[in-house]
Amino acid sequence: MSDGPVANGLRRDLLGDQVVHVRDAFRGEAGREPDGIWVAPGRVNLIGDHTDHNDGFVLPLAIAQHVVAAVARRDDGWIRVRSLQESAPATFELRGIGPSEPGGWAGYVAGVAWTLGQVGVAIGGFDMVLDGGVRPGAGLASSAAVGCATALALADLFDAGLSREDLARAARRGEVEIVGVPCGIMDQMAAMCCREGSAMFLDTRSLEMEHLPLALDDLTLLVVDVGTPRRLVEGSYARRLVDCKTAARELGVPALRDAALADLGRLADETIGRRARHVVTENQRVLEVASFLRRDRTAEIGPMLRVSHASLRDDFEVSTPELDAAVEACIKGGALGARMTGAGFGGCAIALVARDAVPEVGRRVSALPSAGSGPPRWFAVTPAQGARRVA
Ligand code: GLA
Repeated sequence: MSDGPVANGLRRDLLGDQVVHVRDAFRGEAGREPDGIWVAPGRVNLIGDHTDHNDGFVLPLAIAQHVVAAVARRDDGWIRVRSLQESAPATFELRGIGPSEPGGWAGYVAGVAWTLGQVGVAIGGFDMVLDGGVRPGAGLASSAAVGCATALALADLFDAGLSREDLARAARRGEVEIVGVPCGIMDQMAAMCCREGSAMFLDTRSLEMEHLPLALDDLTLLVVDVGTPRRLVEGSYARRLVDCKTAARELGVPALRDAALADLGRLADETIGRRARHVVTENQRVLEVASFLRRDRTAEIGPMLRVSHASLRDDFEVSTPELDAAVEACIKGGALGARMTGAGFGGCAIALVARDAVPEVGRRVSALPSAGSGPPRWFAVTPAQGARRVA
């Protein structure tokens, strides 16, 4: 399928089709109409990676790839979830939910139901059909999109009376405690709270946010999916968390967000020192990029994106040869800046490209060697709307 001049093969925004499809599938599965249909987007992070688990700053934007969930209430304590991407549905009792129970993809749904129960929402059970339009394992926060679509649906159906921030926290807690992934809050906050046309500058300590219009004008923001499944993540991500906590403890600060570059010389271990340097300098870069966006000077953020990539590659060591090659190809093709985005260990890079340089960047990216599942795929994104009810 062609997506026009700014992509080499990923499907475009198919939200309307997804909604029709999910509704039909729900009727087939449950033999009744859903009570409603909710959607939550994936995200890319413009800058600020591995800062959220240090109470720092991030600057993500939602993208127009969605998880779509058709849901209807039950009152018998059972949950039945079908994913259009999985062969078998998952059926389980609310009271049976616990760490890794149920396992696999259904844990992201179960985790939210469990967490909402923990904070006093009376969930009676539900039937759900999910369509995952955010490619799993690509680093585009597909699991947060599942969690947030579920959270919003359950909040509406069971009158939770919770804010979007509360629902983001619930989705994160489900992921941490039931699925067992020790993530930060960026992805869930992006899926719940981003606004169309803006990137979200977020303080992950206070959850204070500022929606900064992302004036792309004659610029294009490209996503390059290098096609390697994220080699994760859990183990390596968790080790980075431990490194950062060790650094904060040694420096005597609550989190690395509170450390200054000048303090880092006190860290004895060289590796821990580099991890901390990434976090401290990345926080600084987020503040700088935010100040450029506030002044409508998006075209000038390129150098900060490049330095961010180098820091993630050399100091935090979460890039991969494929991501490095993608970033390099984008820069050689004329991108103003490029960096890996998200947790790393595979996944996606982003590139900020003047519109007339897009064909050359695309040509160079498409010419990169295949990393297993064909050459890297690339596509343009614009800032999309966060989670919402669509029917
Ligand atoms: C993953 C996590 C986020 C964040 C990023 C890295 O996406 O879910 O909380 O830590 O990695 O910035």
